[in-house]
Amino acid sequence: MNNRDQLERNVDEQTYITFSCPKCGNSVEYMEDCAGSAQPCPFCGEDVIVPRSGDQGSSALPLPIETPRLILRRLQLEDFSDVLEILSDLETFRYEERPPMDETEVKLWLERVAKDKLSDTSGQLTLGIVLRDSQKLIGVAWMRYVDSHRQQASLGIQINNEFKRQGLGLEAFHGMLSFCLRDIGLHRVVATCDSRNEAAVRLFTKLRMRNEAECLRDRFIDGEWADSLWFAMTEDELPQGS
Ligand SMILES: CC(C)(COP(=O)(O)OP(=O)(O)OC[C@H]1O[C@@H](n2cnc3c(N)ncnc32)[C@H](O)[C@@H]1OP(=O)(O)O)[C@@H](O)C(=O)NCCC(=O)NCCS
Repeated sequence: MNNRDQLERNVDEQTYITFSCPKCGNSVEYMEDCAGSAQPCPFCGEDVIVPRSGDQGSSALPLPIETPRLILRRLQLEDFSDVLEILSDLETFRYEERPPMDETEVKLWLERVAKDKLSDTSGQLTLGIVLRDSQKLIGVAWMRYVDSHRQQASLGIQINNEFKRQGLGLEAFHGMLSFCLRDIGLHRVVATCDSRNEAAVRLFTKLRMRNEAECLRDRFIDGEWADSLWFAMTEDELPQGS
C-alpha cells in the first residue's frame, strides 16, 4: 500500500460525530478526535462544543460565566473606559515585562480581543469581569490554548486596583477554572507569575493549583532578571462541586 492509499484508508477509518449546531441548526460532522472540544460550526462560524457522541446534544460555549458576585462575559468596544483604567495602571503591570498601555493601544487591543474565538487559530478567549450589582467592569481574564490538541490552556487575570483585596480575583479565577476544566472539558490549565507577586501566588495557591515549577531568571523586568513560578491543575484535581 502506498502513502496515498494509507492516508485515504486512515481517513476512511475515522469515526465521525454528527450533531446539530446549537446556533444555526445545521447538521455538522466532526472527527471523533474533536469530541468535547470547541470547534467552529462550518455554517455559521460560531464556537460550538462537539458532543462526546452523536446521541448527545451539542452546546454553544457556556458563556457568560456566572459566580455569586460576578459575570464574566465577552468584551465589547463600549468597555473601553473601564478597560483603560485597568490596562493603563502601572500597578497592573508591576511584575510584567511590558509597560502599561496608552489609549491607542487599549483601543486596538479591545478591537482585537472582542472578536476572540476559541476555534480561531489564536485559540484565545478574553472576558470582562463585571460586578453584578453595578455592572462595572472591574477586571479581565483570558485563556489561550497551549498545545496542538487544544486540551490545555494558559490562564491569566487582572483586577482593577480599586477593587483588589475583596476576594473578587479569587471568585473570577475560580469561575475560569470551572469553565475550562469542567464546562469545556480541558485536561490541564497553567498560570504563571513573577515569584515576587504575592497576590498572584496566594490566589493560585488558594485555588489549590499545584506549584509545579520555578524558572530562575527567565524574565527581564526593570533592568533585572526575575524568577517566575508556574502553577497547574488537571481536570481530576478540580475540587468537587466547582
Ligand atoms: C493577582 C490579582 C488578580 C488578585 O486579585 P484580588 O481580587 O486582589 O485577589 P483576592 O482579593 O481574591 O485575594 C486572593 C488572595 O490573595 C491575597 N492577596 C491579594 N493581594 C495580596 C497582596 N498584595 N499581598 C499578599 N496577599 C494578597 C488575599 O488576601 C487572598 O488571600 P486570603 O483569602 O487568604 O486572604 C490582582 O492582584 C491583580 O490583578 N494583579 C495584577 C495582575 C496579576 O498579577 N495577575 C496574576 C498573574 S496573570
